[in-house]
Amino acid sequence: MAMSEQIQQCPVSHTDYRSTTAPAGHYDLLDREREASRYHFSDTTERGFWMLTRYDDVLKGFQNPDTFTNDVTSALNPERGIDLLPQQLGGEEHARLRRVVNPYFSPAAVRRMEPFATARCVELIEELRPLGRCDFVAEFAIRYPTDVFLDLLGLPTSDGAFFVPWVEDVFGGIFTGDAERARSASANITDYFDARVRERRRNPLDPAVDLVSRLVQARRGADEEPLTHDEILTVCLTLTMAGLDTTRSALGYMFWHLARHDDDRATLIGDPDAVPAAVEEFIRLYPLVIQAGREVSRPVELDGLRLDAGEVVWLGIGSANRDPRKFPEPGTFRLGRKGVNQHLGFGAGPHRCLGMHLARVELAIVLREWHRRIPHYRIASDAPLVERGSQLTLMSLPLEWDA
Ligand code: HEM
Repeated sequence: MAMSEQIQQCPVSHTDYRSTTAPAGHYDLLDREREASRYHFSDTTERGFWMLTRYDDVLKGFQNPDTFTNDVTSALNPERGIDLLPQQLGGEEHARLRRVVNPYFSPAAVRRMEPFATARCVELIEELRPLGRCDFVAEFAIRYPTDVFLDLLGLPTSDGAFFVPWVEDVFGGIFTGDAERARSASANITDYFDARVRERRRNPLDPAVDLVSRLVQARRGADEEPLTHDEILTVCLTLTMAGLDTTRSALGYMFWHLARHDDDRATLIGDPDAVPAAVEEFIRLYPLVIQAGREVSRPVELDGLRLDAGEVVWLGIGSANRDPRKFPEPGTFRLGRKGVNQHLGFGAGPHRCLGMHLARVELAIVLREWHRRIPHYRIASDAPLVERGSQLTLMSLPLEWDA
């Protein structure tokens, strides 16, 4: 069947998921499309893309990386424009680089950071507590993961003071289409890492605990080839891009939810042991990476959909996590939900999120430490809140409490 003939049978979506909405507005759009049809063809980008919307289809997409390749990683931005490592690699090449970086993000490595991550979290909360109010997104949610990330890389957290605005500019630039702002901020970040990597070449630390030293010393493949300097910088920039905006966003949704649901907040205050399960349910309920893109490598027939080599596919994380076929009453926060850890909020298959253990621990620490110190808070403004499109985040979240 020719592509155009097939599109006539498969609804064409004109929904531009890059647009801003009210909080959780993108999920309403995704719910509507998933229930209208199993597949859609979106004409909102130059290349267009086929949308897989149901849990089982999306999971299969993630699990077949030979057919659905990472030559494209975002359906909304298939040309990418910047290098991402290890994301853009496939097969054995990808596995080799993952083996280099995985140990620094393993559950054991993350446990080693927990004391620092907890102490830093408490410090930041204590700075805010007497003020009685803050913009949670701008004043806490981006600062905290940045400081933990710098510490993980063996870099001084005081660098967060200038690093945070660069990170803001990269994302602000990418998602508002201000390419120049994004380019100059990512150049600053790359220069920063360039100096740090050169320093580690001169004075290597223990590669068992220092990621930058390990990247410098790592060898791959049969020829024991080192990573090039540019590749190392790309890994550092990718981690920055993948780890900070996402964690900030997850924190924003969790606190937006808890500020409006006293019952769920009371449960977490009363039972801190429930926090890890709550984190998992929050990641399912508010998936901020709503899609992963893939490129089709060979003609393939799904159940009722034929795809050609070179076409772009949208693996709909945001629709799969709220698919009622998989998760009953999917729009409800249900602590202890059966099978919650099968959500696709961190992806699946070989590209499953490298930083998921770190993210889970960071989110859990914040839930515990914040509610110990500021158990009751509310949204401080009647002004409408804004949800960014593409990779979702609340742009601000003004909170207030009795200081
Ligand atoms: C709540 C926070 C986070 C969420 C929801 C999230 C989500 C995701 C998702 C959905 C993917 C899969 C993308 C794909 O298959 O194309 C992914 C990959 C990735 N994530 Fe995360 N992430 C989070 C935090 C982090 C953190 C803290 C780091 C590191 C500091 C990180 C680093 C990465 C990297 C490097 C990849 C690419 C892995 C690969 O291609 O092998 N992420 N993440």
